[in-house]
Amino acid sequence: MDELRLAGAKAAEIMADHLAGVADRPVWRPVPGDELAWLTGQDLPEEGRPLDALLEDAREHVLPYPMGNGHPRFFGWVNSPPNPAGVVVEPLAAAFNPSCAGGDHAGPHLERAVVRWLAGLVGFPHPPGGGLLTSGASMATVICLATARQRAALADGWDAREEGLSGRPAMVMYVTEEGHSCLHKAAQLLGLGARNVRTVPVDAAYRMDVAALRAMVAEDLAAGLRPFCVAGSAGTVNSGAVDPLDEIADVADEHGLWFHVDGAYGALGILADGAAPHYAGLERADSLALDPHKWLGVPVGCGCALLRDPSAARAAFSLVPSYLVDENAGDLGWFAEYGPEQTRPFRALKTWATMSYLGRSGITRLVNHTTWLARRLAELVAEAGDFELMAPVTTSITAFRHTPGSGDLDALNRALPVAVQRRGNAFITGTRLSGRDALRACFLHPDTTEQDLVVLLDEIRLAAKRL
Ligand SMILES: Cc1ncc(COP(=O)(O)O)c(C=O)c1O
Repeated sequence: MDELRLAGAKAAEIMADHLAGVADRPVWRPVPGDELAWLTGQDLPEEGRPLDALLEDAREHVLPYPMGNGHPRFFGWVNSPPNPAGVVVEPLAAAFNPSCAGGDHAGPHLERAVVRWLAGLVGFPHPPGGGLLTSGASMATVICLATARQRAALADGWDAREEGLSGRPAMVMYVTEEGHSCLHKAAQLLGLGARNVRTVPVDAAYRMDVAALRAMVAEDLAAGLRPFCVAGSAGTVNSGAVDPLDEIADVADEHGLWFHVDGAYGALGILADGAAPHYAGLERADSLALDPHKWLGVPVGCGCALLRDPSAARAAFSLVPSYLVDENAGDLGWFAEYGPEQTRPFRALKTWATMSYLGRSGITRLVNHTTWLARRLAELVAEAGDFELMAPVTTSITAFRHTPGSGDLDALNRALPVAVQRRGNAFITGTRLSGRDALRACFLHPDTTEQDLVVLLDEIRLAAKRL
């Protein structure tokens, strides 16, 4: 144990040095060839190696090549820096090493509290057992849509788990073109068929056109199909748009559709000053995906599926073989009965630590600061003659593009993200909006400043000149 004690102290030092130095290093740099060879090509050692040597290797060969998301000028995709409280308890979770499938130990009990906190933060109803932590929103979405699928089948008098989908009217789901790819992946995985996922048009602000949704549902019903689910977004990945959730909930009510909300990234935006009206109707959803490993900064991976009626998820997943029967499980049973995972990691500890460390006011400050950055970047873009805003700012994402001249702006903006990333001073990613190539900056870092926004625009200009 002396070796562990010494190595633990050293690991803490390496971790603190790493985090303290992030802002002084390049945001990102490509992994050089020799390091790539070390990372990918090494052989399994014949004899075990001491802890100290492993830590030295991690310091020398791993930590210098980050993805970049710890840096205050990382604006790519939706990837936050790790909250220090989440970081510091990760080794404790590993040392404790429970499976949070269920049972009477600290892990599952703490998970109940954390899920309740998450629901409470965003104003989602929380009956006992109304959710579970997952690897991320992709898995949360699988859980929610599988639950919706089984509920629709049972409502129609059959059992999708028992029979499979063959010979039944196609189940149809509705999502906008701005809906996250995980919705499509989940639908495909669940055997619904990509062709039965309808693309609902969006308005000029990239929000679902609810009149079009209504018409599409009517058309599918007339064709003898089975509309069963509509998925709205509370914060799209492209522009941070929030769909008109209340109006979507009306359509879901009218037609008995399951109403799922993808709030993986953006649900917490409801906490920003003045933002609540954009989110009206969120509380009417049947299920909500919300990722603690996004805006909250809980170290990867932690998602959450919240369910208005947890018994529906249990009906979709519960399968308890004799070797797992737990007479003391209580009314709610085990978490493993509410999703596909059996052995489940202790995700609750890092989530509990992060949320407790920030407190409600700290979380609200983080959301207000990062949404302000997105609005401020939009102002800088509007003031500059060589940039153009591509979408209104609702959450903490600014979608825009560089317009230095009259050349091929799509080609330019398509090439810019990698060119900016390679300079190492800022990290931005791209997308397409309304068929045009765009840049998007997502703000999640508490230490990003207004000056960082100025640097970002200058970096884009410099990268464009060298293309
Ligand atoms: C809006 C949105 N939904 C869903 C997802 C999928 O989440 P995860 O990567 O945690 O599976 C993401 C990921 O970035 C996202 O931004």
